[in-house]
Amino acid sequence: MRTIYMLGNWKMNQSLSDINSFSEELAVAWTNMPKIAQCGIAPQAMHLSLLREKLPTDLMVGAQTCSEHLSGAFTGELSPEALSELNMSFTLVGHSERRHLYGETDGQINAKIKTALTKNLRVIFCIGEQLEEREAGNTESVLKTQITNGLKDIKPSTHIVIAYEPVWAIGTGKTATPEMAQETHAYVRSVLKEIGFDADSTSILYGGSVKPDNVEGLLKCKDIDGGLVGGASLKAKDFLALCYAANNA
Ligand code: 13P
Repeated sequence: MRTIYMLGNWKMNQSLSDINSFSEELAVAWTNMPKIAQCGIAPQAMHLSLLREKLPTDLMVGAQTCSEHLSGAFTGELSPEALSELNMSFTLVGHSERRHLYGETDGQINAKIKTALTKNLRVIFCIGEQLEEREAGNTESVLKTQITNGLKDIKPSTHIVIAYEPVWAIGTGKTATPEMAQETHAYVRSVLKEIGFDADSTSILYGGSVKPDNVEGLLKCKDIDGGLVGGASLKAKDFLALCYAANNA
C-alpha cells in the first residue's frame, strides 16, 4: 500500500484576502472529509506560518523550494532548518519552474534533497520532460537522468515522494492522458527499482493541469499515487473536490 497525496502548489499566487476566504470555505467542509490521503498546500514562502495557523492541523503545509544550506550568507534563500522549526511537513524540490526559469541544476537539486532530509522534511522531488524532449522520443532518458542525478548518493527513504510533471502539461490545460501518464509512471518506478529504492512503496504523483474533472481517471491508474496541482488548487471548492477524489482513490 502506498500513501496517496493531493498537494496544491500555489506558486506566486493568493493574496491575503484570497487566503482568508480559502481557509474559511475549506474549514466548513474539511470536518466531513475522509482522512485517508495526505493532503497539503505549498503557499508562497511569506505565507507559510499564516497557512499553518489557518488550516486544519491534518492538512499539511510545505514550501515550494528550499536551500541546499541550513544557514549562512545566502540572501533570499529558504532554510530547511527554519522550515522544520515552523512545523512544515514537506518541501518541493526541483520543480520545473525552478529548473527552467532559475537554472536549478540536478546537482543543486541533489544537494537540496540531502539537506531537507536531514531536517526530516518530506521531499516532493519533481521531474518532467519538456515538449521538445517528448517529441524527440527522449522522455525516458531525460527522466532517468533527472532521477539518477537527483537521488545520487541518497539512501532510500520513506520521506522521498516523486512528482512527475510533464512540462508541456503545466498550466497549459493539456493533461497527459491517463494511459500516457501511467506508462511514464511505470517507467519512473522501474528506474527507482534500478537504483535500489523500494519502488513499490514510493508514492509517485502526477502534475500538469490536474482538475476535478480529470483527476479520477488519473488516480485510477495503478502507478499514480496522487496529484501535485497548481491552478485548480487555488479555489477551495476545487481543492476540496481533488482531496475527496484522493481519499476515495
Ligand atoms: P497546473 O496544475 O496549473 O498545470 O500546475 C502544475 C504544477 O506545476 C504543480 O506543481
